[in-house]
Amino acid sequence: MAVAPVVYGSSDRPPRGDYARARDNYTCDQDYASYTEVDHDTYRRLYARQASLLPGRACDAFIQALPALGASERIPRFDDINQRLMKATGWQVVGVPGLIPEVPFFTLLSQRRFPVTDWIRRPEEFDYIVEPDVFHDLFGHVPLLFDPVFADHMQAYGLGGLKAHRLDACEMLSRLYWYTIEFGLLRQAEGVRAYGAGILSSPGELQHAVQSPLPQRLPLDIERVMRTRYRIDSYQATYFVIDSFRELFDKTAPDFTPLYARVRQLPELDAGQV
Ligand code: PHE
Ligand code: CO
Repeated sequence: MAVAPVVYGSSDRPPRGDYARARDNYTCDQDYASYTEVDHDTYRRLYARQASLLPGRACDAFIQALPALGASERIPRFDDINQRLMKATGWQVVGVPGLIPEVPFFTLLSQRRFPVTDWIRRPEEFDYIVEPDVFHDLFGHVPLLFDPVFADHMQAYGLGGLKAHRLDACEMLSRLYWYTIEFGLLRQAEGVRAYGAGILSSPGELQHAVQSPLPQRLPLDIERVMRTRYRIDSYQATYFVIDSFRELFDKTAPDFTPLYARVRQLPELDAGQV
């Protein structure tokens, strides 16, 4: 059955995906036959550019797992990735037509299923695209699903999202997603490295996040993250740094109910506030 498309934030055009293809849980089969040679070539070029920037900028766990996505010359088949991913951590990727609403999104994560947009950006959007596409979703998010601790954290996040929905706290939780899963940094022995998908799939932000003297880099503080607004249209002004995925898992494990209540009483912080 067809489901309604979703738009987050303000946009003057409708979302790209064809939601008529989606099942009730918003998933759809990867429409592999619909990819053109131009689509495959866009993926190949995006992958090559981004892979060349990873040494010294991406965290080790990401670099080690990246080959598990498969050949980089064509858009991978989700079924192919799933054979390896299922064995490694019990996760699967599932196709979606684009962004999906909060409850179906959290539900899929709670079932260890990661929704991946199946279409790819147009060549003229090579450097920048507003909505996530198959390159961002696969290249950015899927390698770390091969890491056992990160994989468990993603499922816990999904369960936490369903709870946040009941508590009307999704905005606070979405800031946590933004500053960790999308834009998180990890401290390794040699220095700070990226683990967030939004950083890892963006050439400009990868250099900015890891090497620029401009942004502030703070130790992960869940309460502070939940109070901090974020920017979707420019590089981040603040990044939050963890020492390990175990730290991320442990810091997000406590019951957030009292934290949500406290954060509601506190003023919001600007994205770049010092
Ligand atoms: N511990 C959180 C809660 O009780 C759930 C959660 C786990 C949220 C992991 C995010 C990440 O609400
Ligand atoms: Co993302």
